[in-house]
Amino acid sequence: MIILSALLPIFGVAATPNSPPLSVLVFGGSGQLGSLVVRAALAEGHKVSVFARETSNMQRLEGLPVTVIRGDVREAADVDRALKSQSFDVVVDALGRSESGVEFYEQAAGHITRAAAATRVKHLIHHGSVGAGESRAAYPANLLPERNALLLSKGAAEKLVRDSGVPYTIIRNAVLRPLPAGQADRAELFEDPLAFGAVSREGVARLTVQCFRDPRCRNRTFHAIDAGLAYR
Ligand SMILES: NC(=O)c1ccc[n+]([C@@H]2O[C@H](COP(=O)([O-])OP(=O)(O)OC[C@H]3O[C@@H](n4cnc5c(N)ncnc54)[C@H](OP(=O)(O)O)[C@@H]3O)[C@@H](O)[C@H]2O)c1
Repeated sequence: MIILSALLPIFGVAATPNSPPLSVLVFGGSGQLGSLVVRAALAEGHKVSVFARETSNMQRLEGLPVTVIRGDVREAADVDRALKSQSFDVVVDALGRSESGVEFYEQAAGHITRAAAATRVKHLIHHGSVGAGESRAAYPANLLPERNALLLSKGAAEKLVRDSGVPYTIIRNAVLRPLPAGQADRAELFEDPLAFGAVSREGVARLTVQCFRDPRCRNRTFHAIDAGLAYR
């Protein structure tokens, strides 16, 4: 088990004032989780680009100094063009499927991993769901029938990430809950595939950006959980 937030200050791997900013591309950057990743990355001084559709609602990013690259992640050529537009140190997949079918996750990951490998991205951070792959046993059995196809697509997406050859981090969440006003974010990363619990999008976004520079995140799969949040 890794408790990243607790270990970071001890090992001193967090950004120092002399760390050069990283070039970051966020897929799903206009969404609820993605926009918080964008804000957390900007707060650390990184250079952020967002991949979004012409029709995406950009309200959450209003006034933020981001480069917007337009495209649809279901179109391989759009993803290739985005990845070739500059050299990215970090690519974050914070996509949700919106109106698409469950096959969306595997299709999107296929396009992103191929383009990231071809353009030598240094780190791919993929947001997934508890219940995918070897974490299936952690998922409530009564919800499995209804989520089965979704979780299979998410598992296939994770496999594409692991097999891509691009250094990766997979951060799964089981359920995303708002952080009640005044409650501190206590999200942590656990490596146990049976770990299960709620987490806030703010916590997941903070941990995502901490992983940008932390070698202990490389080629590992975590579950993000905030012990202060109830699952139900
Ligand atoms: N909600 C939960 O409790 C929960 C639990 C477990 C896992 N998750 C997972 O956590 C992740 C983030 O969830 P969220 O609720 O924060 O997401 P969200 O607010 O729905 O955001 C999804 C983002 O993906 C973009 N997107 C969708 N289709 C696209 C396309 N074809 N091309 C380009 N961009 C596209 C959306 O843009 P558009 O506006 O253009 O659609 C939006 O920016 C998802 O993978 C979700 O499945 C959520």
